[in-house]
Amino acid sequence: MNPPIADFSLEGKVAIVTGGSRGIGRSISIALAQAGADVAIAARKPEALTEARLAVEATGRRAIEVPTNVRVNEDLRDLVSETQTRLGRVDVLVNNVGTTPVFGPIQDLEERAWDVIMNTNVKAAHLLSNAVREAMLEHGEGGSIINVSSVGGLRASDVIGGYSVSKAALIMLTQVQAKTWGQDGIRVNAIAPGLIQTDFARTLWEDDSTRGRAEVEAALRRIGQPDEMAGAVVYLASPAASFVTGQTLVLDGGRLI
Ligand SMILES: NC(=O)c1ccc[n+]([C@@H]2O[C@H](COP(=O)([O-])OP(=O)(O)OC[C@H]3O[C@@H](n4cnc5c(N)ncnc54)[C@H](OP(=O)(O)O)[C@@H]3O)[C@@H](O)[C@H]2O)c1
Repeated sequence: MNPPIADFSLEGKVAIVTGGSRGIGRSISIALAQAGADVAIAARKPEALTEARLAVEATGRRAIEVPTNVRVNEDLRDLVSETQTRLGRVDVLVNNVGTTPVFGPIQDLEERAWDVIMNTNVKAAHLLSNAVREAMLEHGEGGSIINVSSVGGLRASDVIGGYSVSKAALIMLTQVQAKTWGQDGIRVNAIAPGLIQTDFARTLWEDDSTRGRAEVEAALRRIGQPDEMAGAVVYLASPAASFVTGQTLVLDGGRLI
């Protein structure tokens, strides 16, 4: 049989997923494994890490748990070297961890919270991508990096303004990395989810008026589920997206249009 023209397989590839233990990252980890990749799952709390590892292993692929705080640079370097040691190489990185510790107008965002948001949502993706780029250069076959941004990075929020700023920065980081690393065969893209039913966004989707507004404004008249984020990531990681780089794919049920 001829090889597929649109090849979505990740057979023989190794992926790192930050925040891969819960929510959107967990769905992405399992989906990457279902497409053929072995997966290194990075997060802080051990119980959820183990549960996610077992879920990935149930697909028949290898998985490792790597306890990681993405705000600690040493952890990020260890994550890459441990993945290389235990899974052999790195081909795909999903910078999925994100945080928004406080709600309120931008003028009330204190310096400490600003630093936590920027360090988690932007600096960690910068540092980890740099380390992963080195690992990709070692095998010389390039790779794919996917940054998990947000519709908040495309439309200003007056409630989580610092988060909006950080997710916009992540979209530009995506473009800068794509432009700089394309010559090495490294593609870099982003996804921008809308409101998704995870722990992270619980205060939003449990609030009747916020959820109602999200549902009414979306063309599909509903909020999203974490599994619905995974297909785009598999696509962007795979050879099917071989000529796609520097892009941000909005996954919001048609709310921004
Ligand atoms: N849910 C939404 O509506 C929505 C919308 C747009 C964009 N997003 C983005 O999607 C991404 C994933 O969000 P989610 O909703 O799936 O969140 P979630 O369900 O709360 O999961 C967050 C994951 O990140 C890990 N994590 C958090 N802080 C970490 C840190 N400092 N170091 C390492 N791991 C850390 C968590 O594990 P530990 O706590 O054990 O570390 C967990 O695995 C984020 O970037 C978020 O901004 C979400």
